[in-house]
Amino acid sequence: MERHVLITGGNKGIGLACSRLFLTCGDRVTIVARHASDCELAGQERVKLVDFDLCRIEAIPELIASLPPVDVLINNAGVMYSLPYDQYPDQKREILLKLNLEAPVALMTALFPQMVARKQGRIVNIASIAGQIGHPDIWYGISKAGLINVTKSLAKQLGPHGILINAVAPGPVETDMLAVIPEPRKQAIKQAVYTGRFATAFEVAQTAFWLGSDSPEYLNGSCIDLNNGAFPR
Ligand SMILES: NC(=O)c1ccc[n+]([C@@H]2O[C@H](COP(=O)([O-])OP(=O)(O)OC[C@H]3O[C@@H](n4cnc5c(N)ncnc54)[C@H](OP(=O)(O)O)[C@@H]3O)[C@@H](O)[C@H]2O)c1
Repeated sequence: MERHVLITGGNKGIGLACSRLFLTCGDRVTIVARHASDCELAGQERVKLVDFDLCRIEAIPELIASLPPVDVLINNAGVMYSLPYDQYPDQKREILLKLNLEAPVALMTALFPQMVARKQGRIVNIASIAGQIGHPDIWYGISKAGLINVTKSLAKQLGPHGILINAVAPGPVETDMLAVIPEPRKQAIKQAVYTGRFATAFEVAQTAFWLGSDSPEYLNGSCIDLNNGAFPR
């Protein structure tokens, strides 16, 4: 059965890999991002592109009301600035916390009434290893720790209504986001994983697709560690 999958940031990087995978499997995909309409998937069947800045938290209920019912939400859009904690402009901190944490919560909140009414729905939150072990960009780490925590809190409350809410916590993934990480740190991270490479966007998408499709009902409120052994040894 064709499902409607809402993917934030589905126009680039990990989100684009998710969009491609759900489309390949026959689903309908709505991509929400600031520049969604520039996406390479423009014009394809079963793709809807919505240009929207997810920092506009107050407009998120209206955004959801304008879309057909959503079966699967992939909360993927995010930003990392890689700035030191004592040189962090207020405006950047506000954008990061809105996009990485408040928007996913607002999207879930706006979708719950329709999902509860249908007694089904799957939500996948793209977190990060940063939320588990800390990060040089403390606000990024804080936002991802918060996302993992809210995954558990909301799964506890919505699980009894048939809704599955899980997270994926990847280590570094080959996307544009890595551009802000200094080269020596990138090399050190590569040396800390079993296979000496970063994850691919497709590997994250495969995991998100499984959580959004076939993972068992008993897996709820969990966070999948997709890090190739990168926890500190
Ligand atoms: N790459 C990694 O190493 C890595 C590791 C672990 C977790 N993650 C997480 O994975 C997710 C995707 O990261 P990525 O590496 O694919 O990053 P990316 O290539 O930089 O893509 C970021 C996405 O977020 C969208 N976005 C940014 N600001 C937005 C806004 N204000 N409103 C709506 N959409 C916005 C972007 O689209 P527009 O520019 O068109 O708005 C883009 O689609 C993020 O949550 C990130 O924290 C990444």
